Amino acid sequence: MSGQISIVEVGPRDGLQNEKQIIDVETKVALVERLASAGLKSVEAGAFVSPKWVPQMAASDEVMAKIKRAPGVSYPVLTPNMRGFEGARDANADTVAVFGAASESFSQKNINCSIEESLERFRPVIDAAKADGIRVRGYVSCVLGCPYEGDVPVAQVARVSKALFEMGCCEISLGDTIGVGTPTRTKDMIRAVADEIPVDALAGHFHDTYGQALANIWAAMDEGVKTFDTSVSGLGGCPYAKGASGNVATEDVVYSLHDSGFETGASLNALIETSIWISEKLGRAPQSKVTLARMPKD
Ligand code: HMG
Ligand code: MG
Repeated sequence: MSGQISIVEVGPRDGLQNEKQIIDVETKVALVERLASAGLKSVEAGAFVSPKWVPQMAASDEVMAKIKRAPGVSYPVLTPNMRGFEGARDANADTVAVFGAASESFSQKNINCSIEESLERFRPVIDAAKADGIRVRGYVSCVLGCPYEGDVPVAQVARVSKALFEMGCCEISLGDTIGVGTPTRTKDMIRAVADEIPVDALAGHFHDTYGQALANIWAAMDEGVKTFDTSVSGLGGCPYAKGASGNVATEDVVYSLHDSGFETGASLNALIETSIWISEKLGRAPQSKVTLARMPKD
């Protein structure tokens, strides 16, 4: 196998949103810029959500205003409703992301409404984005399990994904929010969704709580998925999915793909440097096995 795999770096948003200490704007801006300099073509830069719900994302407008945008790089932001969309548009976002769930309980806990209500709430966001020439991603959370309900039927994942795609999302990111999925279940889930919408429109978003994320990426690639969300240093988690760990580390994915003959456009060394840098800022060891293996030892 060989070819191009697209990486959507979600570290500055998914990676940082769960951090208790508020990280200053300069650090967030530097993180986004370093990731773009490392060759990543999509760097999720923040979230226009309620600061009462996720205080860490409160200054996303300032981050968006301060980043020096690199040519050919996209800087998506999360927008749960029209209020968020207006903020993102004012911040000149090129891509916004609505985020729903395949589980009712998670939808209620994360965005305070039912799945059906969320779809109705996203419709005007997607319409407005289309009118403004802004690209829209659609996240579906809990595709391989829910922290409140346990198993989630693949038919439900397919239904919500199809609804978002038909409304106009150009890419559906399938989120294993709590990182419980395994390769066989990943394949079953992808097949169910790909029966409804083109596999080219799918992305995989695997948290690594059970250490399965990289294996799940390879399983999804076997099914034809070519876009994956990853987080530098394996940062991340969702404030409304307690105990869930970070996304699969960007460095680990890039190492695995490059060594296997795939291209991502990213520089592994630059990612490792950024991973060490942000880990020092956060006062902890990197979560990436590749970075731990390669970082200078005392
Ligand atoms: P609500 O409380 O039902 O909303 O929250 P509301 O409309 O009643 O508004 C409540 C207050 O929030 C009001 O302020 C609004 O103005 C304000 P007040 O009058 O009380 O001062 N407000 C906003 N402020 C800023 N930006 C906005 C906004 N909207 C309302 N956009 C809401 C509903 C959706 C806003 C809330 O539940 C929320 O912000 N949730 C976000 C949760 C979140 O960000 N979770 C993490 C991201 S999802 C994730 O991590 C999963 C993913 O990675 C994939 C995966 O891993 O599965 C994507
Ligand atoms: Mg996530």
